[in-house]
Amino acid sequence: MTGTTRVVHLRRGGTSVVARCDSDQLPCIMHWGPDLGELSPRELDQVLIALAMPYLDSPLSALDVVAVLPQHSSGWLGRPGLLGSRAGRAWSVAFDEVTHVVHEAGDPGWSEGPEGAVRLLSVGSDRACALEVGVELELLDGGLVRVRATVGNLGSEPYEVRQLEPALPVPADAGELLDMTGRHSRERTPQRRPFDQGHWVRESWGGRPGHDSATLLCAGQPGFGFREGRVWGVHLAYSGNQVVSAEHSPTGWRLLRGGELLLPGEVRLDPGVEYSSPWLLGSWGEGLDELSNRFHQALRARPTHPSRPRPVLLNVWEAVYFAHDPDKLVALAESAAEVGIERFVLDDGWFLGRRHDWAGLGDWYVDETVWPGGLHRLVDRVHELGMEFGLWFEPEMVNLDSNLAREHPDWLLGTEHGPGPASRHQHVLDLANPEAYAHILERMSSLIDEYRIAYVKWDHNRPLVDAGHGPQGTPGVHAQTEAAYHLMAELKARHPGLEIESCAAGGARLDLGIMEHADRVWVSDCIDAHERQRLVRWTGLTLPPELMGTHVGSGADHTTHRVHELSFRAGTALWGHMGVEWDLTAAPPAQRAALAQWIALHKRLRPLLHTGRVVHADLANPALLLDGVVAQDGSEALYKLAAVEHTLTWPPGRVTLPGLDPDRTYRVAALTPGNADQVLGSPPATVAAPLSGPGDLAPRDHRPGWVRSSLTLPGRVLAEVGIQAPLLGVDQLVLIHVAHVAAEGADGADGPARSVPDVEEE
Ligand code: DGJ
Repeated sequence: MTGTTRVVHLRRGGTSVVARCDSDQLPCIMHWGPDLGELSPRELDQVLIALAMPYLDSPLSALDVVAVLPQHSSGWLGRPGLLGSRAGRAWSVAFDEVTHVVHEAGDPGWSEGPEGAVRLLSVGSDRACALEVGVELELLDGGLVRVRATVGNLGSEPYEVRQLEPALPVPADAGELLDMTGRHSRERTPQRRPFDQGHWVRESWGGRPGHDSATLLCAGQPGFGFREGRVWGVHLAYSGNQVVSAEHSPTGWRLLRGGELLLPGEVRLDPGVEYSSPWLLGSWGEGLDELSNRFHQALRARPTHPSRPRPVLLNVWEAVYFAHDPDKLVALAESAAEVGIERFVLDDGWFLGRRHDWAGLGDWYVDETVWPGGLHRLVDRVHELGMEFGLWFEPEMVNLDSNLAREHPDWLLGTEHGPGPASRHQHVLDLANPEAYAHILERMSSLIDEYRIAYVKWDHNRPLVDAGHGPQGTPGVHAQTEAAYHLMAELKARHPGLEIESCAAGGARLDLGIMEHADRVWVSDCIDAHERQRLVRWTGLTLPPELMGTHVGSGADHTTHRVHELSFRAGTALWGHMGVEWDLTAAPPAQRAALAQWIALHKRLRPLLHTGRVVHADLANPALLLDGVVAQDGSEALYKLAAVEHTLTWPPGRVTLPGLDPDRTYRVAALTPGNADQVLGSPPATVAAPLSGPGDLAPRDHRPGWVRSSLTLPGRVLAEVGIQAPLLGVDQLVLIHVAHVAAEGADGADGPARSVPDVEEE
């Protein structure tokens, strides 16, 4: 304690947050990173002394305190944390008094919040500006930080909020930035740059995070990888307009920050009303795997996290597109059931006038010209076959060629100039209009009841431009985002057990705000298994495998036109919430039989895949990617080694298996469902061709040693020394199953390599 300053030390899940709490400032984070152990109040005060800056010519030159909401009134010269005004007044906030209270889950003062968390709640009052500003800083059980700010209008005139952006500081050795960008069907492409002085700003103005969403903005020790290099990262849990940024000030502060981007007049607080920023989530780790694992742990700890096995689904989109033919789709459902599909999803094209993407959005009635008598015949057959039924909707969208748009043109978002440019021939329904909202709720709810729908694929294909709320056309993105959340929540409350997949032309809306309501995301419209290696790897930094939709396509990919073997397609789709997007009625019987084996393998492995710790190796050979999942108790692991380029080194070389318990012994085996074993023993033709000399005509076994005979080694050796990669060609993969064995030579430890893992049936 130093007079009016005290220091709060929050500790959870290997993370410490040390916050300086002055009586006239919102908290300032002095340390966010590794657990510092128990520190006495005196030691915490000493931390402040250790970090007190030398005095220069004024406090502005060497700022000791940069609060979670940095303010110009305290000397901060960068982007302010709170900007707003009462018609040009009350725009600079300074506090007469700030109270700081720490609550733990279970305390009398604890209102709703995650189990096992601890919260620092700071509330500042600015009497001159008649504002109250609060900051909630929570440290969750697994060490994830989340922070949000609230501003309340205590005055008698409205107060307009322009920006409210909490910031988390990182230390000076965080010298490199990593975030993501992309486009439709190539989302989440990583990009790196030095964390130089200045401001790296990533904005989304389309009413959703977008295909180019930064997703996770990281700052770390230069060269940080998945297993090494300390790194911090933030994600904004919000689905509307937003910004995340990394600011490096000349005084040395490095801030990772984020908030909602507000349009003019969008958040205008009447007297007594308040506005809260979305949660900014922060994680750190020795390498990205540890950072990512804290996100996964927090998501998995939610009471709403899907707890039953993720049903393998078939989505009909790439099988039939808009060509809905009930006979064909019933036959497809039958083929789907034969290969082990558990959920059948009818995609776009089932409702009034929807023969193409120019018409129909908004008219959520089954089109009886295509589906005489409704969807009953198909749905009944799907249920008879033991599958769940899922249906596609795009509730927030309208085609101008629809009865809804003709009858209610005022239900569309728009400005003085009309509803703005079309995108995919569509516009946006104003969900903040109570009549439009009630209509869409009624339509969806009655269809969900009528067809016993277990799953809604919820699409969103047009960015929100010119998104004015009627009748004046005032900015409507914030209200639209909140209304979409509300609609999802209301449908789930009305239909217990209903699951929602968040799709936005692929992966344009998969933030952790939408995940409060969704149970799965559609990672991308690109299901090319080559592209999916990176798409799933980088999307998976925030989302665990069970929340990511991963589908097996038909062979020639529909977005890239690359052609892949089934073993590569299925071995890639196995790594998420698995599905199929392929006209199985046209697939050769041998392919269907092999697909059934892959699906069976997924079902047997999903308890591990959907609960384990996700790991990635930092391999020296850029042609190879190795991803894995390790059981939380370290007893088992599965790895996928994929060759995505023509490797320069030949043979490809050693790969390490990260994340195992160093002191336990494991048995390593290749998994080869379908005809995947061919990949292990089929080097390129130039190598496989018999040589001409005598004695060279006998067939050779080209498989690496650990596939030819069994391998049992401690986790430490597998992680440090590794194993030889098979002779993988471009776009081939091998699955490596690792199981703990009691001791070297114990039961089965020196038996032949297994072709399927010895895991429990569900
Ligand atoms: C875009 C989605 O990403 C696709 O999967 C599909 O549902 C189409 N929309 C349907 O229009």
